[in-house]
Parts: sequence; C-alpha cells; structure tokens
Amino acid sequence: MPYETILTSLEENILTITINRPDKLNALNRQVMQDINDVMDEVYSNHEIRSVIITGAGPKSFVAGADISEFVGASVEQGKMMAKKGQDIFFKIENAPKPIVACVNGFALGGGCELAMSCHFRIASDNAKFGQPEVNLGLIPGYGGTQRLTQLIGKGRALELTMSGNMIDAATALQYGLVNHVVPQVELLDKAKSILTIINSKAPYAVGACIIAANAVFDETKNGYATEIDEFGKCFSTEDMKEGTSAFLEKRKPVFKGK
Ligand code: COA
Repeated sequence: MPYETILTSLEENILTITINRPDKLNALNRQVMQDINDVMDEVYSNHEIRSVIITGAGPKSFVAGADISEFVGASVEQGKMMAKKGQDIFFKIENAPKPIVACVNGFALGGGCELAMSCHFRIASDNAKFGQPEVNLGLIPGYGGTQRLTQLIGKGRALELTMSGNMIDAATALQYGLVNHVVPQVELLDKAKSILTIINSKAPYAVGACIIAANAVFDETKNGYATEIDEFGKCFSTEDMKEGTSAFLEKRKPVFKGK
C-alpha cells in the first residue's frame, strides 16, 4: 500500500519503513503520524510481515522530532490531543506482536527519540545523536519520552537529558543502554536484518509472547510474572512448541510453521 510520507519495502518477510521527509530531517508532521499509524495496521494484519525496521531517509537524520511548525498557536486542549494521539500511535508500535527495530541513522530528537524508544530495540549508526530538546521550545516530551527514557536509561540520566535538552552521541547511547549496537552507517540496515533474520527463524508465537511479557513489566494494569505464566502456558498449545521440543530431542533443526 503506498503512503504519502513513508516508503516501505518487504524483503524476506522484513518490512523496512523509511520516514521520507529528508528536507525537513524527517520531522513528524500530521501526515507522517497518520502514515505510521496506517502502516502499523498493515504490520499487524499482513502475515507476510514477520518483523519490521523503522529508519529515516537520507544520511543525516532518523527523525528530528515532531514538526515544530504545527505547534504554533495550539491551545492547551489541542496540545493534549496531539500528545494523546502520538502516544496511541507509539503504543501501537510498542505492542505490535512482531519485532520492530529502530535503525537510527542520524538525529533522533524529540519525537524521533520517542519513536525509536517505542520500538522493541534500537541500533544506531556512528553519527547518531539522541536527545529530548523540547525544553528549548518551552515544552516537554509528549509522545511517551518522559516515561520510556526513564525506563530505558534510568531517572537520573533521563532527567538530565529532558531538563537540559542536551544531545548524546551514539557511543554514550550505547553506554546508557539506549541502543543495542553502534555500527558504521553503511552497515546499519544489514546489522538489523541479520538480527531479524535470526528472530524470523524462530517460532512466531513465542517471539510475540516475549514482547507481551516484557511490555507487562511497564504496564501497571498487569502483573508481569502472571503474564509470563500465561504466555508460557499458551505456547504449549502451538504446533511450533511441539516441533521445537521434538526437534531438540531428535537432534535435528526445527521447522517452525507459525502455528
Ligand atoms: N520540525 C520542523 N522542521 C524541522 C525540524 C522539526 N522538528 N527539525 C528540522 N527541521 C527543518 C528545518 O526547519 C530546516 O527546514 P528549512 O530548510 O525549510 O529551513 C530543515 O529541517 C533542516 O534543518 P536545519 O535546522 O537547517 O539543519 P541543521 O543541521 O542546521 O540542524 C538540528 C539540525 C536537528 C540540530 C535542528 O534542525 C533542530 O534543532 N531541529 C529541531 C529539533 C527539535 O527541537 N526537536 C523536537 C521537536 S518537539
């Protein structure tokens, strides 16, 4: 399905989504947010898609934040609505039943950092820069940044970043645990694809259950250990679990069918 502001390509069951406004450093305007929302519906429903990469067009920026020009003249109520809508779309990414990896190829600022953090993990190119510079605009992060940054790097580091508006480089992001790997920019997508190819070879139900259980840690309406028990149990109803355990005992490679 064609989108106005994002490019998509599906290869070997990995959907690559590229935010495509390089002249505006891929800033998230309303249309980009709508397109991300719509492509996530496709991710949920299309069985050909086993995993997803989100990246930005051009060598300079992943996403340089929400489109600041759309903030001008907004009221308190409109501000709240923007944040709610953004949070809902990023929850859709976070709760997707398939792995979604952010390939951060440059600036990941404001909503860009928040988009990357809503993905299941992040890989950065060595020129990447992360930050929540909203305070420079008299704002705070609104698309989940105050929450996910605190979850990912801890309260002290998160507050230093949100209150100062300072950026950190890829090496610091790696040290903080904000990203899993840092690679040269030319290797960024290949690195993600090599990891996703491994994940795609596993039992899809079990992969999705890893996401559900990990997300339960941060969901106050859920007990994470109870969620784990539930998901562990559900795996026993899948053919893939029977195949995986039988294959191990028969000393052969499992063939998972996603059933
Ligand atoms: N919203 C809207 N437009 C943006 C943008 C954003 N968040 N970030 C960058 N742009 C636009 C610039 O206005 C400029 O457009 P123009 O060429 O029509 O003037 C274009 O992208 C290139 O950006 P520019 O600032 O010229 O690049 P730079 O290399 O000098 O600086 C940044 C790069 C990322 C440091 C700088 O663009 C910046 O600070 N952006 C805003 C980051 C931010 O505050 N994000 C949080 C928003 S809530």
